[in-house]
Amino acid sequence: MRQGACLSLQLQRGIRNRGSAMNANTSVEIFADVARLAAAAGSRFLGLARDAVAARGAFTVALSGGATPKGLYTLMATDHRLRAAIPWADTHFFFGDERHVAPDQADSNFRMVDEALFQHLPPGLTHIHRIPGEVADAAEAASICEEDMRGFFEAHCLVDGGFPRFDLIFLGMGPDGHTASLFPESPALLETHRWVVANWIERFKTHRITLTFPVLNNARGVVLLVAGASKAPVVAEVFEPTPAGPAYPVQRVVPRSGTKRWMLDEAAASRLPKGKA
Ligand code: 6PG
Repeated sequence: MRQGACLSLQLQRGIRNRGSAMNANTSVEIFADVARLAAAAGSRFLGLARDAVAARGAFTVALSGGATPKGLYTLMATDHRLRAAIPWADTHFFFGDERHVAPDQADSNFRMVDEALFQHLPPGLTHIHRIPGEVADAAEAASICEEDMRGFFEAHCLVDGGFPRFDLIFLGMGPDGHTASLFPESPALLETHRWVVANWIERFKTHRITLTFPVLNNARGVVLLVAGASKAPVVAEVFEPTPAGPAYPVQRVVPRSGTKRWMLDEAAASRLPKGKA
């Protein structure tokens, strides 16, 4: 597949459009490396931001954590053309999830984005809604975050069907098929009412604070940024689900009236049907 080729799944031969994770609003782009993936993600961010501000006067985006998106956030701060074009004053940054740590801790998602992007912007230029991971009680941290979100989305009439309608939600995917902090067999997978919850992750023996599936699936657009060979087995299973195969949390990201775009590097796509990736 040509670098950056964007094919809706209907057009892709060999990647059968089966399973709920692949529906008519899903598209896939595959890039030679994470630098090209970041550049394309930056262009997509800008396009969606401009459209949202033109249509509604604001652009709401939830950022994903982990390592993959760091190149994108860095580009937003350092690529002069991109930085000059982003409507910062009308952009509202939220987070898809956060670790239960203070913002100055090494594994804080906020710290990662702050170092890559926010610290390089003039103070007050944009709007940042941080998840308060430092709050000792994780459930209280989730409630504070949800209260902040409700205040914003309700004030801007951006609640639809009882949930916030983000213009864009960036997501990553772990090698176990988790997304945001919705890990396999974790309690938050069952949440149907709350916007934000504290999710106990048994493997890590800790809570994480995360947006819930109803919020993810209420977005106008979800972009999954997935890179690295460690993701290839799950990517292949998600794109080629077998009836007896496991159900991964990422497969439950199915925007009810929005688009879903997979942006993969070739390493993560390396197990997709030969000649199609
Ligand atoms: C987090 C993210 C998480 C991440 C995946 C992929 O808090 O870490 O929200 O869902 O996106 O684990 O992480 P990498 O990009 O580091 O592979």
